[in-house]
Amino acid sequence: MTIFSRLLTALSLVLALSLIAPAASAQVNPTESSVNEDALFQALGTSPVAGRVTIPDANAGYLIKPENKSWAALQGQTLHTLSIVAVVGMIAILALFYLIRGKIRIDSGWSGRKILRFNAIERFAHWTLATTFIILALTGLNLIIGKSVILPLFGEAAFGTLSTWGKIAHNYLAWPFMAALVMIVLLWIIHNVPNKVDLEWIKQGGGLLKKGVHPPARKFNAGQKLIFWSVVLGGAALSYTGIMLLFPAEAGTAADWQFYQTIHALVAAALSAIVIAHIYIGSVGMEGAFDAMGSGEVDENWAKEHHALWVEEVKATQDRNTKQVATPAE
Ligand code: HEM
Repeated sequence: MTIFSRLLTALSLVLALSLIAPAASAQVNPTESSVNEDALFQALGTSPVAGRVTIPDANAGYLIKPENKSWAALQGQTLHTLSIVAVVGMIAILALFYLIRGKIRIDSGWSGRKILRFNAIERFAHWTLATTFIILALTGLNLIIGKSVILPLFGEAAFGTLSTWGKIAHNYLAWPFMAALVMIVLLWIIHNVPNKVDLEWIKQGGGLLKKGVHPPARKFNAGQKLIFWSVVLGGAALSYTGIMLLFPAEAGTAADWQFYQTIHALVAAALSAIVIAHIYIGSVGMEGAFDAMGSGEVDENWAKEHHALWVEEVKATQDRNTKQVATPAE
């Protein structure tokens, strides 16, 4: 090491210490033995390690804030565990449900007659919402549990690439997700207002638990209304907190930003668990259900068993339209 580089190192050390010293020196003995991280935090209590800055952003003067440590612990431990419990727990419950109840069949069998359930615009909104949500959920989950689950399995290089692209996808796919969320609110809110038909549906457990039980329902039953409102309110909470995280300058202080981040992660974990249950019932869990969002047309017997009142409404509208065509205006 040349004299010049030694001088430079010494100068940097003096500068760094002078930045920390004003706040720390009041409470900590700046000797070798006390200046290790744990001792420093113990001595500081909740006071931050700060120096002085002359630029307008006073936050730039903070080297370490102990409260950020508790936020990091909340991330690394509590939210980490909660996210895993929510997702794995729901998958375990559904696997158990499948073992006990099996696939919910069309009791009266396929009729071969079709009835239009969702038009192309509704299906476009649903699949935009669904694909963006699934990618957002997986890339978000990677931020919380990736380091402990993905990194050991696939190694640093793969985890690094996945996380970099995942973050970009997360930031950009949030926008089509929000647009699709607005679309499903506009398209379906009218069918999701709770009414007294829902009480009967709930009383009979939605017919999900026993074979041959089919409580009447209109376009959406009480279970679907629960999914709809969870997606809409949860999605709105995720959108608001997500925008705050994307634009931290709008979020307020660092503590506000941490609050938004915690709510974002909690709502995401809860909504992911709910959506996993929805995906199960809309695919492998119920015979004939997927067609509603696949081709848009469902079997008439399926519709009569799960949405009898809606079938009556559709038939009544069709009859009215046929009569109008048959009686031309004078
Ligand atoms: C592969 C994944 C998915 C499949 C197979 C699926 C399937 C379905 C089906 C078949 C329906 C119509 C049910 C009916 O006819 O009554 C539906 C409705 C709906 N889906 Fe999905 N879906 C998926 C993912 C998602 C995701 C990720 C979300 C939201 C984030 C979502 C939100 C909704 C909502 C709000 C409804 C209307 C309410 C309801 O039927 O529960 N779906 N989905």
